[in-house]
This record gives sequence, structure tokens and C-alpha cells, in this order.
Amino acid sequence: MGLTMSSGFFDWRDLPFPVPWHEILGSQGPLFVEIGFGSGEFMAWLLERHPEAAVVGFEVSEGSIRRALRRLEKVSGAHYALLYMDARAGLRHLFSPVSIDRIFVNFPDPWPKKRHEKRRLFYPPFWALVASRLKLGGSLQLYTDEISYLFWVLEQSQEVPELGVHWEATRSYPKTRYAQKWESAHKEIYRLEAVKVREAPYNFPCLPKDEAMPNVVLKPREGQTLSALVQGIGPLKTTGGIDLIIPKAYLSIDGQEALFEVFLKEQGLDQRYFIVVRRMGEKIVVRIHDATRVAVTPGVKMSVRLIGDQLQRRGCELLQSTVEVIR
Ligand SMILES: C[S@@+](CC[C@H](N)C(=O)[O-])C[C@H]1O[C@@H](n2cnc3c(N)ncnc32)[C@H](O)[C@@H]1O
Repeated sequence: MGLTMSSGFFDWRDLPFPVPWHEILGSQGPLFVEIGFGSGEFMAWLLERHPEAAVVGFEVSEGSIRRALRRLEKVSGAHYALLYMDARAGLRHLFSPVSIDRIFVNFPDPWPKKRHEKRRLFYPPFWALVASRLKLGGSLQLYTDEISYLFWVLEQSQEVPELGVHWEATRSYPKTRYAQKWESAHKEIYRLEAVKVREAPYNFPCLPKDEAMPNVVLKPREGQTLSALVQGIGPLKTTGGIDLIIPKAYLSIDGQEALFEVFLKEQGLDQRYFIVVRRMGEKIVVRIHDATRVAVTPGVKMSVRLIGDQLQRRGCELLQSTVEVIR
């Protein structure tokens, strides 16, 4: 995407899992999270009201992030991070258990159509994740204009007894872009609060993440061309915890380089990147392409390893590997 690192915007792939937020944001105050911050009206208000807090926001809309960044530039001395990331993956991999004071969700998409229902956030596993990441006494606050959605959210939360959930109709709510939209349509607004009342037993470990980029170095047999070697590799697929899809390679015109696009899903985290297989004199090197950014998770290492393994099966000799090659 076209967003570049600027003060306030963080690329999650560059951060350790979990993130030491207080250290990174230079704050000693409470840790707050906003899910779907939209144009940033509420976050600006929160930062002004709690200048000591560390505030982390998740969004999946690039346009919203740009608008929020422009707005938040004007808030001085604030400690915040905006992330282009699905909040489900963010809460799990970027936060330690029992670390968050408050989570705010203002007017989440209710996805009213049956066929879109699976895009909703508040299914029981998400509630369990919320319970695991909140501190005891910490809470999640949600505003919505849709009573049927409110009841659906309530019903889903019942499977997580560590949360005490209550709701009310209210005239006091943050004046976000969506709040204003529903206000002018004269819709009733509801507030739900889920407070963590007991320790939660749920175990949602963060993915382990390495700093070093994985690579495999091989020696092809006499006369073996790269084009012949990569032909027939892919589509490769793995399932069961690490879902990888690697379609066929794209070969460069001079035949010295092959690119594999990788689609990876592991524990809620999606990554898409390229692996390059490059001829370098007598050797062949398999590694992540410089132009793509990744968080080096077990799935990323597995993807490099899978291609290295395929080349070994085609007769290449393994010279060096930072990842164990499956035989
Ligand atoms: C209806 S808008 C509300 C925006 C803002 N809170 C407001 O009140 O104006 C919902 C927002 O949530 C974001 N969103 C939807 N799913 C998300 C997810 N899984 N993680 C993070 N943000 C998400 C959308 O991009 C959108 O900006």
C-alpha cells in the first residue's frame, strides 16, 4: 500500500511480537486500543483528554488512515500508533495477555446481510481474545445505532463468562463521522460495555517472529538451467495451522531469476509477499524479495524452505540454509 512510515504510522511487520508499547510510544500511562478509528475524531479526543496514555489504533481502510494521520498531526505530545491491520490479528500478535486498559469500538460495521455476517468481529473467539488481552477491571466499550446488531453482539459475548456485559440507550456518545451520520438520521444510539471481571484462561500466544531473513543456497547440477528447475514447481499448498499457497513461478526474461508469489495465513495473520530464486554464478539463492516486506514468522520460513526442498528434489545440492530443509 502507499502509506509510508511517518510519525504515528507504524508498519506492524517491523514491530516485535508482542510490542513493548510503553517503551515504543514513550508513555507511562494506561494502554488504550481503538478498533476501526475511521477519520480519527475519537482518537484525537482521547489523546487530548489522556495525554499520558499510549493509544494504538487499527484500521483496514487506507483512506481513513490518511485522514486520521492529518487530524492527529495537530495533537501535540501524544503517544499513539496507527496500524493498517485487521484488529483481530493485531490484538493477538501485538499485545501481551493482560496488558490493555480499555478498548474502544465506535460504530463498527454491522454487516446486516446474511452473506456478509462472517465479516463481523464479535464472535465468541474474538470476545475470548479481548478477555485475554484486557487487564482485570479493564473494559471494551462499543457504540452502535443498530439494535439487532447490539443484541447479536451481546449474545456472542455470553460465551465468555469472564466479561460482565451491560448496555444502555444513550444520548452521550463520541461525535465521530458515523455518529453524525446516524444523528442526522435521528437514530437511537446504544452503548455496550464489557468489563473483565475475572482472570481469563484463554491462551492465544503471539506468533514467534525472527529478525533474520530466511534463505537457502543450493548448487545445481551441471547444465541445469533455472528455467528447467523452477518449471513444474507449484502450485504448492499447505494447510493445518499454516495455510500457504504458492502458485507457479514467474521467470525473468534473462532466465536468471524466478519469482514466487506467496499467500500465507497463520493464526489470523495474513501476509502476501514474493520469494525470489536467483542464479548467482554457480549457486542458486532462495530468499524473500527485497521489494516485499514480511514479518518473519514460522510460515514465512516454511515457504522458503518448501521451495528449497523442491529444488533439492530436482537434484540441487544444499550448500547452506537458515531454515531446515524437509527431505
Ligand atoms: C462504520 S466505520 C466507523 C468509523 C469510525 N469509528 C466512526 O465512528 O466514524 C467502521 C470502520 O471500521 C473499520 N474496520 C472494519 N473491520 C475492521 C477490522 N477487522 N479491523 C480494523 N478496522 C476495521 C472500517 O475500515 C471502518 O473505517
